[in-house]
Amino acid sequence: MSVVCIEFKPGLEGVPATQSSISYVDGQQGVLEYRGINIQELAKKSSFLETAYLLIWGYLPSKEELESFEHDIRYHRRIKYRIRDMMKCFPETGHPMDALQTSAAALGLFYSRRALDNPEYIRSAVVRLLAKIPTMVAASELMRRGNDAVQPKDDLDYAANFLYMLNEREPDPLAAQVFDVCLILHAEHTINASTFSAMVTSSTLTDPYAVIASAVGTLAGPLHGGANEDVITMLSEIGSVENVRPYLEKCLETKAKIMGFGHRVYKVKDPRAIILQELAEKLFEKFGYDKYYEIALELEKAVEEKLGHKGIYPNVDFYSGLVYRKLGISSDLFTPVFAIARVAGWLAHWKEQLTENRIFRPTQIYTGEHNISYTPIQER
Ligand code: CMC
Repeated sequence: MSVVCIEFKPGLEGVPATQSSISYVDGQQGVLEYRGINIQELAKKSSFLETAYLLIWGYLPSKEELESFEHDIRYHRRIKYRIRDMMKCFPETGHPMDALQTSAAALGLFYSRRALDNPEYIRSAVVRLLAKIPTMVAASELMRRGNDAVQPKDDLDYAANFLYMLNEREPDPLAAQVFDVCLILHAEHTINASTFSAMVTSSTLTDPYAVIASAVGTLAGPLHGGANEDVITMLSEIGSVENVRPYLEKCLETKAKIMGFGHRVYKVKDPRAIILQELAEKLFEKFGYDKYYEIALELEKAVEEKLGHKGIYPNVDFYSGLVYRKLGISSDLFTPVFAIARVAGWLAHWKEQLTENRIFRPTQIYTGEHNISYTPIQER
């Protein structure tokens, strides 16, 4: 008889599933680093595409490398008309994350060659995915409003171009700059659920489009990336500063989770939430206040009083929605926007994993029975 000597950890909490040099989180101190560089510094000094390069290739690119990367991404932003035609058939009532997962998987129909040992193939998959995912998110949004997709505009940078394709007009420079910082903040976060999903899929040596599609599906859930959308729904349900504490009491009584709070790793305020809050304030100063902000501030205060002792503080999703609302992004697009950024991190893990791949095949602790005889259907 075999003896099970492995401790079962629900949610794999604390179980190392890989070795990685891509990013680092100190959940007690509230530190996040990409390739050793603090997120605060990247948010101030880098751009999303430079950060994506850093994550995927492991170093800050030279001027020439960055220009060539940006050039290639600009060149590949367009999507094939067949993909657009497919997207036109999506139901208007469908969730944009489902549309994105389907479209990301569809890219594999056009570009999959699975030359995973060829650095040029790796680079072209990275470029295509980073270039086309924003175009697909914007196109599916316009199509569900009954409009034609807007073609990318070559003289706009990555962040400005996405806002242009989405809102059909060139964004204010502050809006584009803030959005670029949001992309940096969401680009990578160690081995979270969607990254693990990407890694499990990539460990089978399938194509990178399937890897990204599976990660998008995982990110969609409300316990992961989907929480940013639920935060805005929650703030609207609360409705007023006076109602914050009664709402919180009710959540505590019914053991309902407060969206945008808590994290498996962070036991202090998420460093990304701190930056996002600053970005929200910058936008409010220029474009006007958001009535939900004072509700959010009061909720943060009340949750800290009641749950701070358990290490429950705002996570990345708490303030991001307030920023996105000011950028003209509708709430069910918040998670697809998160995905646009996280593609960089997923690709970094995909590339890292290919260098030392072993298929994920964990074990289980069987809790069922043995030697049960089959009961014919008439006797059940
Ligand atoms: N509201 C109220 N209580 C909470 C919350 C919350 N948001 N988060 C955790 N807790 C409590 C939970 O009830 C439990 O209490 P007790 O030990 O007394 O039973 C304790 O804290 C531990 O919670 P857990 O659910 O076991 O923690 P976890 O590490 O499994 O889950 C989490 C982490 C992020 C899923 C969870 O905090 C949560 O559901 N938060 C709300 C959803 C959310 O904001 N998700 C975005 C996560 S950050 C971005 C991302 O990953 O995409």
